This record gives sequence, C-alpha cells and structure tokens, in this order.
Amino acid sequence: MEKNPRGPPTKPPLSRSSPMAILLVLFSLLIATPTAPVLVAAASSSAVFFTPQDNFLIGCGSGKAVTHLDGRVFITDQNSGKYFSSNGRDVMVSVPSANVPSPIYLSARIFIEEATFKLPMTRPGWHWIRLHFFPLSNNEFDLQNAKFTVTTDTLVLLREFSIKDNNNTNGWFFNEFLVNVTTERLSIKFSPVKGGPAFINAIEVVSAPDILITDTGSTLFPVGQFNGLSTQSYQTMYRLNVGGPELTSQNDTLGRTWALDGQYQAHKELGKNVSVAPTVIKYPEGGSPLIAPQSVYASAVEMGSANVASPNFNVTWNLDIDLAYQYLIRLHFCDIISKSLNDLYFNVYINGKTAISGIDLSTLTGGLATAFYKDFVVNSSMVSSPLSIQIGPWTQGTGAINALLNGLEVLKMNNSVGSLDGEFSVDGKSANGVNKGTVAAVGFAMMFGAFVGLGAVAVKWQKRPQGWEKRNSFSSWLLPLHAGDSSFMNSKNSLGSRKSQFFSSTTGLGRYFSFAELTDATKNWDANAVIGVGGFGNVYYGELDDGTKVAVKRGNPQSEQGINEFQTEIQMLSKLRHRHLVSLIGYCDENTEMILVYEFMSNGPLRDHLYGKDLTPLSWKQRLEICIGAARGLHYLHTGAAQGIIHRDVKTTNILLDELFIAKMADFGLSKDAPTSEQNHVSTAVKGSFGYLDPEYFRKQQLTDKSDVYSFGVVLLEVLCARPALNPALPREQVNLAEWAMQWKRKGLLEKIIDPLLAGAINPESMKKFAEAAEKCLADYGVDRPTMGDVLWNLEYALQLQEASLQGKVEDEKKASDPIVSPASVVPVAASTPDNRPISSPEQVRNPAEVPVIHEHSGTEMFAQYATLSGR
Ligand SMILES: *[C@@H]1O[C@H](CO)[C@@H](O)[C@H](O)[C@H]1NC(C)=O
Ligand SMILES: *[C@@H]1O[C@H](CO)[C@@H](O)[C@H](O)[C@H]1NC(C)=O
Ligand SMILES: *[C@@H]1O[C@H](CO)[C@@H](O)[C@H](O)[C@H]1NC(C)=O
Ligand SMILES: *[C@@H]1O[C@H](CO)[C@@H](O)[C@H](O)[C@H]1NC(C)=O
Ligand SMILES: *[C@@H]1O[C@H](CO)[C@@H](O)[C@H](O)[C@H]1NC(C)=O
Ligand SMILES: *[C@@H]1O[C@H](CO)[C@@H](O)[C@H](O)[C@H]1NC(C)=O
Ligand SMILES: *[C@@H]1O[C@H](CO)[C@@H](O)[C@H](O)[C@H]1NC(C)=O
Repeated sequence: MEKNPRGPPTKPPLSRSSPMAILLVLFSLLIATPTAPVLVAAASSSAVFFTPQDNFLIGCGSGKAVTHLDGRVFITDQNSGKYFSSNGRDVMVSVPSANVPSPIYLSARIFIEEATFKLPMTRPGWHWIRLHFFPLSNNEFDLQNAKFTVTTDTLVLLREFSIKDNNNTNGWFFNEFLVNVTTERLSIKFSPVKGGPAFINAIEVVSAPDILITDTGSTLFPVGQFNGLSTQSYQTMYRLNVGGPELTSQNDTLGRTWALDGQYQAHKELGKNVSVAPTVIKYPEGGSPLIAPQSVYASAVEMGSANVASPNFNVTWNLDIDLAYQYLIRLHFCDIISKSLNDLYFNVYINGKTAISGIDLSTLTGGLATAFYKDFVVNSSMVSSPLSIQIGPWTQGTGAINALLNGLEVLKMNNSVGSLDGEFSVDGKSANGVNKGTVAAVGFAMMFGAFVGLGAVAVKWQKRPQGWEKRNSFSSWLLPLHAGDSSFMNSKNSLGSRKSQFFSSTTGLGRYFSFAELTDATKNWDANAVIGVGGFGNVYYGELDDGTKVAVKRGNPQSEQGINEFQTEIQMLSKLRHRHLVSLIGYCDENTEMILVYEFMSNGPLRDHLYGKDLTPLSWKQRLEICIGAARGLHYLHTGAAQGIIHRDVKTTNILLDELFIAKMADFGLSKDAPTSEQNHVSTAVKGSFGYLDPEYFRKQQLTDKSDVYSFGVVLLEVLCARPALNPALPREQVNLAEWAMQWKRKGLLEKIIDPLLAGAINPESMKKFAEAAEKCLADYGVDRPTMGDVLWNLEYALQLQEASLQGKVEDEKKASDPIVSPASVVPVAASTPDNRPISSPEQVRNPAEVPVIHEHSGTEMFAQYATLSGR
C-alpha cells in the first residue's frame, strides 16, 4: 500500500483493528472536514426539539382549553368561528370523566350537516393531521353508530367511516395522516353519511420537518427507485417501537406514538428483546432524531437463540394491510448488540422476498449504536396481506448469527384519485374502471428478485446542498446527447411539430420523436421488447422506420413541473458528447410523456461477456481495450464536460458494448455534478452498488470523482478475475472481490485467481501493470487514488505490453531464433488524444498482423507522454 505524505495516515482494514481505534480515526477525520460540526452536534444532542410553524391543536366542543398528556394545550373551538363553519346544526357535548388517557377525549363537536374547519397555513410542506375520536355517550346522538366522510380539498382521509368498526378496545382512538400541504388554507370537511351524525373530539394540524420524507426517497438499489414521494399523502397504519416500550407523544418531539410490536410477532418465542440506554444512540452525519427518537433505536428484537435447536431461522412480524394501496415501509435499524464492527450481517425479507441481503450496519453508519433507516415502497404486486417483515441471519457470514430490527413504520399511500380510503375522489370520481395497474402511475420498480445477494443501500440522512432535488430529480435520465448526428438531425421528423420554446432555442438536442412513432418502434410498448427496468420506468428495444435500432427509455407520466425538469436535464446533457458515452438520439415529451431514445448497444453489458452468460470469452486485449474505452468515458465526464460529472454507479453492467465491442459508459442514473473547487466534495446520499462502493464515500457520504475511480478499480478486477464484485455464496473472505483480490495481490500471487480462460494468453508484465492500476484505484483514501487520466495511461501501457508480447510471438513464429521482445524495453506509442484513438474490433484482435507497430521511445519521452495524458 502506498503512503501518501499529503493524505491522512493509511488506515488499517476495518476488520483487523479495534472498534475504538477506528472510531478515533474516523472522528479525527471528520473533525478535519467542514461538515464535522453537524455530526458532532447530532451525536451529542440527546434531545432535539422540533418547533412546528403551523401548530393547530383544537379541542372540539370543550368550551375551554384542554391540556393533553404531553403538555400541549388544545384550544377550544367554541369561539373559533374564524376556523370553523357548519352548514347546519352543530352540538357541543362533553362528559366530566371517562376512561380515556387525555382530557381531549372528554368533549366533542357533533355535526348534522357538512361542516368544515379552515386553517390558515404559514408554511407549505409536511403536516400531520391527527383526528381524535371517542364516541361519548349522550342523550341525543348515538355516536357509536356515527358514520361519516372526512376530506381535505383534494384528499379523502376517511370515507363512510364507521366508528363502530374502528374503535379499539378502549373506545378512543385517533387516525394520523401525513400530508404535504401546498395551499394557503387547509380545509378539513366532515360529511355525515345517511343523516347520521359526524363528530370529532380533537384535531391536530401540525407542521412536520421536511426531512421526514424525501422525494426520491424509497429505493431498492441499484435500480428500484420511487420518485415523487413528496407529492403523496400518507396514513400511518403501524408504527412500532420493536422490542421496546410504548412511546407516546410525550416521548417524541413530533408527537408520534410508537406502539408495542409483540402482538404482531408470528412466533414470539423466536424473538428476544434487547435494549441499551437511549443516550448512547448516535445519529450519523446528517442524521436526525426527528426521523425516530433515540428510544426507538435503543431497543430491538434480536434472534432469541435460547428457545430453538437450529440457529438458522427468521423472526417474523405479520401486519394486516389493505392491498388496494401502496405502502411506504420504513425499517429502523441500529446495531446495539455487536461487540465489534463488521460482526453482524443479516438479511431482511418483505413478504418472503429478499429486501436487504447481508446488511452490515457498522459499515453503513460507521459505528455501532448508530441509527439507520431504510424505506421501501410496495404494492400488491410485491406483497400480500398480511404484510410480513422478516429478519434472519446472513448464513454466508462468519460473524455473529443474529439479526435485529429496532422500529417499523407502515404508511399507506393515497391512490390515483387522491384517496386514502375507498375508490372515490373528493368530488366523487371513481378509481373504478381504471385498471389496477395504472393505479401506480408513478413509476417504481422493486427488483426484489434481482436483488438477492446484492443488497445496496441508500443512506438518506445526507446533508444536501441547495437545489439538490431539482438537479437530481430526473437523474435517471442523465444520458449524454448525441453530438448532432446529421442523419438524425435531417430526418423528416427532426425537431417536430410540438417542440417547445425550450428545445427550439437550443441546438444539438437531437431529434424530436412523436409518441406514435415510438409506439410503432416498440411494437406498442410490447412487454417482450423490455430490455431494462429502472426507477424511471422501462427501457424498450425499438426499430425506427429507417431500420435504426434504438433503446427507448420511457419515464412514467409526471407533473408539469416534472416536464420542466426533464427539459432542464436534457439541456444539461447536451454538454456531454463522447465516443465512449452512450449517445442520446432524441426525445419525446408529448402529453407529459418523458421518453429518451438512445443508441442501441447490441452487445449489451460488459458483465455478460465476463461470466454468467456463456458468451464467447473476450481476449485479454479486448478486455484492455474495453477498459480503456470506459476509462476514457469516465475521464471525459470528470474533466471534459463544461463542469465535471461524477458517474456514481460505475460497474460492469453500466459499461455497454456496441457491435464492434467498443465500450461506452451508460446510465448516468445517479450522476451528479462534481464539486467545484471551493467545495471539494458533494455531500449526498450514498448511492451506487454494493461491491463497488468507495469505502470513504460510505464513511463520510462525501462524493468526489475519486469514488468513481474506486469503483473502476473493482471493474478492473472483475475483468481480470471474471467474477462478480460481490458474491455472498462464497466463503466469507472471498465474498468481496476487491478485498479478496487485494489480499492475493499483496502476496504477489494475483495470477492464481485470474480468469482461467486468460491463463497463458496474458502477458505477465501487462497483467502486472493492470493489477497495479487496480490497486491504486482501490486505495482507502481518495487522495491516494489516481485520476482517471492516470488510470487511462496505465491501461494504455498494459495494452502496449500485451501487444508487444503478441507482436513478439508473431515475430517468434516468423523467425524462431529471435528472442521475445522484452517487456522492459517497451514503452507506449506516441499518444494520440485519449478520445480519438481507434479501438480494434474483435476481428482485428483475431488477426495479429494488424497489431499496431510499437515505436521505440526513451524514458524521458515516456514521462512526457504520461504528463500530457494525466494532465500534470
Ligand atoms: C367498539 O366499542 C364497543 C363498545 O365499547 C364494543 O362493543 C365493540 O366491540 C368495539 N368494536 C371493536 C371493533 O372493537
Ligand atoms: C410538497 O409538494 C410540492 C409540490 O408537489 C413540492 O414542490 C414540495 O417540495 C413538497 N414538499 C416537501 C417538503 O416535500
Ligand atoms: C419485549 O418488550 C415488550 C415491551 O416492553 C414487552 O411487551 C414484551 O413482553 C417483551 N417480550 C419479551 C419476550 O420479553
Ligand atoms: C416517556 O415520557 C414519559 C413522561 O415524560 C416518561 O415517564 C417515560 O419514561 C418516557 N418513556 C420512555 C421510554 O422514554
Ligand atoms: C427466512 O425467510 C425467507 C423468506 O421468507 C426464506 O427464504 C428463508 O428460507 C427463511 N430462512 C430460514 C432460515 O427459515
Ligand atoms: C397521490 O396523489 C397525488 C396527488 O395528490 C398523485 O400525484 C399521486 O399519483 C397519488 N398517488 C398514487 C399512488 O396514485
Ligand atoms: C405495483 O408496482 C409495479 C411495479 O412498479 C407496477 O408494475 C404495478 O402496476 C403496481 N401495481 C399496482 C396494483 O399498483
């Protein structure tokens, strides 16, 4: 491992040093970063108080203010005519006492006709709406049999809601909603059904922090992503403090309650409660106790091995849900059981499907007893009722056989007509007749199946720079535009009839396609034409009229705002043009469609040519050329565009091969502007794919172009060893390719684990150079890693060495007496620009006669080329 005088001391591998030492190192590192104060503040603050800007607490029918258990004062609605209006008679009732937990349940307002509370909002954004009910007995009205509908201007909260069917055993209860209010006034309307009365005991409308739900929140990486969470409305169905005591609004500054989980555990004897003092719970950088208080993370249910013969089982929670809706499932984790880092790996299943495989909380959070949560969006295509959440050991691991869950929230999401209850919208329109599939108009793809063994992770407590959402909301669309290929620009539909002002004023945006044309090209969006699935929607294979093969990426219909961002995104993409980036041919934005059409890469992803697919194996030279191509694409992204771009998801499935096996980087789905010079990193969600993730990025959640370099190092190893970056089926020490291969490299025995198909056909010097490049890419600290320009040069050199040896063999065959060209005497050819160097086709590779001639250079010249290429 190289020592770098500029960087921090080289850190020993996590698994081999004591947790304390690591924490100290991490701590000292974090102190050195500008964001450190945030972490320190979050970690040390045991209590965080949230002050809601909008805070309506209304005790209905009480005639005087009442104080809730948690000390919050609910004002009376008696003289609050400014908030409340009724079309008919309304009655105040109250009782002196009852078996209820709070005086807010001792009074109610009863409506015979429609009645509306109108509350002025001071701040747009998330608000809790809590409706408290207790059917008080009184002489005039039978509240037990009350049945009514509650709506806002746009949202059905409760439809034909019957108290009788909903009271819990105590008789009192409340319903909680989380709504993004964007209007200046929030109306809550009560409409009695069939003459029966409607009533309400207390209403809360209280601002909730923005960080609670993020727009592109719930994801299953690498591909599944649900966009638009901030425009949904939610009803809390379950919120459980797993393994811990019940928490009431007194214990949560957001006034949430966290119920006991015991009644939902399928076999209680399999789970075991564990807890620590809440004050030891830390939050990661950018994390917040507002997501869930320390008390939630301080308790958990782990595997209770005392009661079972085999240590291999799952702990299961079953929750009844209504399958007509989608749900946001939020799982809270915090490793309060491990004695050391990297000792606990476990799996999480949702309805029997793997949701997270081999999660290692200490890596994700950088420590023990540190809070972590993960969101999933599911619907009936993924789950059945009851919804089952299971945790179980990651059996491939050699660490502790255990698993844990600290908290669980299940939030129902509104359906397509804006209802959280029933198939009718506020104005009575029905969702019926709309087929169930289109109910989920907002796209998301939960690739549970494809996810096995490749648990990928989104840490969402990032501190995000201003405008982050805006720049990133259509990030799945980030694909470079074609450099104005004239055959496309001149085609008859070029920049067609419906082009917007925006597009007409911009050049190089490619061709405008009509929706009809793309419908034809994809055979009416034939399911058999789907060649890829992602959070944005599907990618289809298509053929244009003129026979051009294309890949058509169709997003799900979004709001008008979405379209604008889509267009902004395209404008940004127009800056990116390169031979080693997949080209965008054109787009379609008809009728809120957001479709991108790009060149079809007939040989598909690089990974398919390395393993698992039984395709003709690539020669070493081909592999080098592909790596060089990909490196050029990345180098261009980092340095060539008007502003640097970080790819963020460099892996062998994102390197596509065209019919000539020319490599092009694809799917800038997670791309993001690189930091400017004043700000050396972009602090953001950890995205990308397990096995490729820069460990420094993990720890600090700070993105630099060196994170791509790390991932590229993993790609190089994958190309050399022809195995996945992460293979949980292998023994523990082999699971992670980067770790495993570097162990062999340090022993000087890397050749033992290379792709057997390469054995004998690979020049040892070429391999050595290649492996050195990979090792440098995988340096622990970004500052120690080379730039893509440096990597590129090393790969070029490795290719020269290989070609020289091929050349040598050819010469050898010609004149058997000549010695093989000594690699040491070989230096690279005069550098052409990195972007223009032709790449040999497979045919050329098979024909050694076409191998370029090696020029002789002195060492000084070689250094000069190196300097040019690496931009030093
Ligand atoms: C609702 O409350 C009533 C009276 O307390 C009780 O008879 C009934 O069983 C309750 N219903 C449910 C669903 O718990
Ligand atoms: C609420 O929705 C609006 C519009 O749909 C969106 O712009 C805003 O960001 C959302 N607010 C939050 C806090 O997510
Ligand atoms: C776990 O803790 C909860 C809440 O304190 C309690 O209700 C439950 O009985 C406990 N379970 C076991 C197995 O001790
Ligand atoms: C919840 O708050 C109440 C009142 O302050 C307190 O007595 C109780 O111990 C708290 N519970 C937990 C688990 O912190
Ligand atoms: C745990 O549950 C998952 C999903 O239901 C199942 O595939 C797995 O076999 C279970 N593990 C054990 C040890 O029962
Ligand atoms: C929920 O309602 C919003 C509008 O308020 C809508 O954009 C969204 O698509 C709805 N959700 C679903 C799943 O249909
Ligand atoms: C559920 O989600 C899948 C995947 O996005 C989607 O194809 C399907 O239409 C959805 N189903 C319902 C009933 O919403």
